[in-house]
Amino acid sequence: MKIIKTIEELRPIIKGWKREGLTVGLVPTMGYLHDGHKSLIVKAVSENDKVVVSDFVNPTQFGANEDLSSYPRDIERDAALCEAAGADIIFHPEPEEMYFPDKCTFVDMDKLTKGLCGKTRPVHFSGVCTVVSKLFNIVTPDRAYFGQKDAQQLAVIKRMVRDLNFDITIVGCPIVREADGLALSSRNTYLNAEERKAALILNKSLTIGKEMIEAGEKDVEKVREAITKSLQTEPLAKIDYVEIVNSENMEPMEQINSSVLVAIAVYIGKTRLIDNVML
Ligand code: PAF
Repeated sequence: MKIIKTIEELRPIIKGWKREGLTVGLVPTMGYLHDGHKSLIVKAVSENDKVVVSDFVNPTQFGANEDLSSYPRDIERDAALCEAAGADIIFHPEPEEMYFPDKCTFVDMDKLTKGLCGKTRPVHFSGVCTVVSKLFNIVTPDRAYFGQKDAQQLAVIKRMVRDLNFDITIVGCPIVREADGLALSSRNTYLNAEERKAALILNKSLTIGKEMIEAGEKDVEKVREAITKSLQTEPLAKIDYVEIVNSENMEPMEQINSSVLVAIAVYIGKTRLIDNVML
């Protein structure tokens, strides 16, 4: 497995693979990989001849007061995980390689991105759509793999691929959890022991909502209230949002009568965690 840092070095390798008729899978990541990422890479390896993992902390998707500078990074550890999972290349560019200093073109979306995470992170999805479009143009994959944990991101990418006619299949992969239910996230590393325990309230509260819906509850407000009440029992938790939306277009709903996404964002101490369940 190779670590490649420049577009100039990566492109001829991919062109060579394509000339041989090989399929290419892309797993876009911001590094500090965990078993959730590993599950994406393993799936990509099982469905493609060659797999590229991008490992790039994308500055354009962080707001001014967010954790860009402190976001965890460890390329050697990432390389070991990618190699064990069967990836062929890690693409690990510097920000200067990905963005011209006088860049003035962005990919934006005027639906799907305004609620949920987009409400408190107004620049986030433009940054995600821009960098993912660039990665699609650089790697030209047949398939790209994204985790369901970022459910809004997955819906946004699927819509962007449809709207901009990218000839790429987007594969969504299930959330991977610790044995006690905490969804894996690179940001879990920020949690101290007390916060790590407190973070279990996310999955516990989502499970309450899930069980209500599975038992036939159709009233969105009742489910939202039950989840909110449960989250409020944890003193270290501060709710950013509890949303129940149509899982495809991210539109709010009053009655639960189609495929539904129950999504939450909660601060545990200073760490903002997200989790969701799709029904
Ligand atoms: O999900 C992530 O890690 C990032 O948002 C992504 C898709 C790699 C774009 O930077």
